Amino acid sequence: MSKLILGIETSCDDTSVALVDRSGAVAAIKTVSQYDIHEAFGGVYPELASRAHLHAILPTIQTVMTDAATTHSDLEAIAVTRGPGLIGSLLVGLSTAEALSMGWGVPAYGINHLRGHIRSAALEGGITEFPAVVMLVSGGHTLIAFLENEWSYRLLGTTRDDSVGECYDKVARTLGLGMPGGPAIDRAAARGTPVLRLPRPMKNDAYEFSFSGLKSSVARHVETHPDVSVDDMSASFVAACMDVLAAKAERALKECAPKSLVIVGGVAASAQLRETMSALVERYGVTLSLPPVKWATDNAAMIAMAAWDYVERGVQPDLMPKPNLSLET
Ligand code: KG4
Ligand code: ZN
Repeated sequence: MSKLILGIETSCDDTSVALVDRSGAVAAIKTVSQYDIHEAFGGVYPELASRAHLHAILPTIQTVMTDAATTHSDLEAIAVTRGPGLIGSLLVGLSTAEALSMGWGVPAYGINHLRGHIRSAALEGGITEFPAVVMLVSGGHTLIAFLENEWSYRLLGTTRDDSVGECYDKVARTLGLGMPGGPAIDRAAARGTPVLRLPRPMKNDAYEFSFSGLKSSVARHVETHPDVSVDDMSASFVAACMDVLAAKAERALKECAPKSLVIVGGVAASAQLRETMSALVERYGVTLSLPPVKWATDNAAMIAMAAWDYVERGVQPDLMPKPNLSLET
């Protein structure tokens, strides 16, 4: 049996555990969602999130090890998210990983969640050719960066206010589509037509993003036109997001001349985003690197995948929690 890395991800509101081999094949994975716990609060309630992680973490590890018929002697390493994220949630994963590491005599690697998202595109046989331009679009982050290789990153730009995923979630709430907002908007948009005129904030401002104006514009429109078609509004909102994201990606393709465009993070599960970016790369003759849809959102497989890079390099990042960790650290 080839060696596996046990990945643990508890940075926000999902307790996820996975076993991944060097090729990126996922031997087993389980993600326990806390959706029901936080729904009533309209957002993640940090104190409840840490308690739920504490409750779920050991049984989830046990399930995944059993599913893959694995024992700790098959493990190359344990990989755990050390940031960015909620401190209480991060600490549950980190202390569990540290305890298992000591008990089993297996090294533990503290992994940057953002680096995990980027490496999600290498899961299940995915290939990222370097140099690459990466666009990370999730609930917590929106950024675009140039990657010379796996190790050298140059941040091109990020959002001034909301992330794209946050904007999807808030617009879904305004439209009464419930949570999780991204997939709900995605489905409604597929039924609608983008007939409503919405702004494209900062579309032509180099690599900076801004989404709060778009969100407020939807809210204002719904207030003044309560009978607006939810499907048409969703389609119009998605069209505005796609225009902005495509403009930034296109600028980076022109200026950085990469071999591949990597789109990762929860919003990379969007069918519209996948279509938009496929059309774009075709025009520029670069490859499109995407995670499998099911692992675009937070999961432990991507954390284990990122740890394999460190194993190969012979570097073992520490387990200090860093709630504000940035891409470049
Ligand atoms: O990467 P992720 O799981 O968590 C963070 O690291 O933030 O991203 C979650 C975000 C949510 O805002 C969710 O609405 C969005 O990803 N999302 C989607 C879709 N699935 C999830 N957005 C658009 N279309 C989807 N199908
Ligand atoms: Zn994430």
